[in-house]
Amino acid sequence: MKRQNHYGKNVFVTGASSGIGQACARMFAENGCNVTGVSRNTEEKTEVFPGGGSLTLKRLDVTDEAAVKEFVDDLPGVDIAVLCAGMGVAGPAETTASELTRRQMEVNYFGTLNAAQPCLTRMREQHRGLLVVIGSIAGRVSIPMQSQYSASKYALEAFTDAVRMEMKQYGVRACIIEPGDTKTGFTAARIMQNSDNRSDTYGIRLKKSVAKMAADEQGGRSPESVAKTALALAGRKDPPARVPVGIEYKALMQLLRIMPDRGKEFILSKLYLPK
Ligand SMILES: NC(=O)c1ccc[n+]([C@@H]2O[C@H](COP(=O)([O-])OP(=O)(O)OC[C@H]3O[C@@H](n4cnc5c(N)ncnc54)[C@H](OP(=O)(O)O)[C@@H]3O)[C@@H](O)[C@H]2O)c1
Repeated sequence: MKRQNHYGKNVFVTGASSGIGQACARMFAENGCNVTGVSRNTEEKTEVFPGGGSLTLKRLDVTDEAAVKEFVDDLPGVDIAVLCAGMGVAGPAETTASELTRRQMEVNYFGTLNAAQPCLTRMREQHRGLLVVIGSIAGRVSIPMQSQYSASKYALEAFTDAVRMEMKQYGVRACIIEPGDTKTGFTAARIMQNSDNRSDTYGIRLKKSVAKMAADEQGGRSPESVAKTALALAGRKDPPARVPVGIEYKALMQLLRIMPDRGKEFILSKLYLPK
């Protein structure tokens, strides 16, 4: 059954070649939308779906600000933008190389910004639109050995909250989805900072921590669960500011809201800094 959609049929999805972005692109197309999905490595093609929706895949690097603006300006319409393109850097806060931190921010923060801004302009002009940013639980609590990834996702929380307030009067809505562990290509694509050569202070701890993250992600929810959340947001005239995916993460977020910092640190250290 087709889901209700308050915003329109023209949907733009970044990171559409894999995982959450691919699931979102396909689910909106299956629900009658005309979706344009972008990523760097994809076969360029258009698929038409039985209900009349379509999915067109194009190559685009979200870190190329000028190319993204030109691309979005040329789209026939942008009613909903689902910004999923992202990757993860793992490494100790002390030693993560600045080029890895810059790469992390370039893709996750500036890449999202590059895509969001021209979409917001078009939405403001038509006085209608929905911006959906894919954040993370790591944007609400900082994950040890993923400080830069967490920082990039915290930045997206701040950006999306401001957009939400600034653009409400223009009929534009914005929200951030906060997935927890999700089984996608994210695990294999993760870039890991090598332990520092001076000592093995972090070597084993980092490896164990990343192995735990990888196992949790690959045992996690399906990307379709996140896509369902995105589609449900399109059915709401006044969507919530942030949506964790799944009952366990909703409960965790409620718990973390009332828990003192030391309690949070205890749990996160137990989870992500195995002995
Ligand atoms: N998996 C999880 O456990 C999890 C949990 C919370 C949040 N998230 C977030 O969910 C989002 C999607 O990740 P995923 O889990 O679906 O991982 P994924 O399967 O690796 O998908 C990432 C997508 O981003 C695209 N991408 C990466 N860099 C890009 C660039 N510079 N320009 C354009 N596209 C780019 C990739 O395509 P190309 O390589 O072809 O460019 C791919 O389509 C990310 O923002 C991630 O932080 C994931």
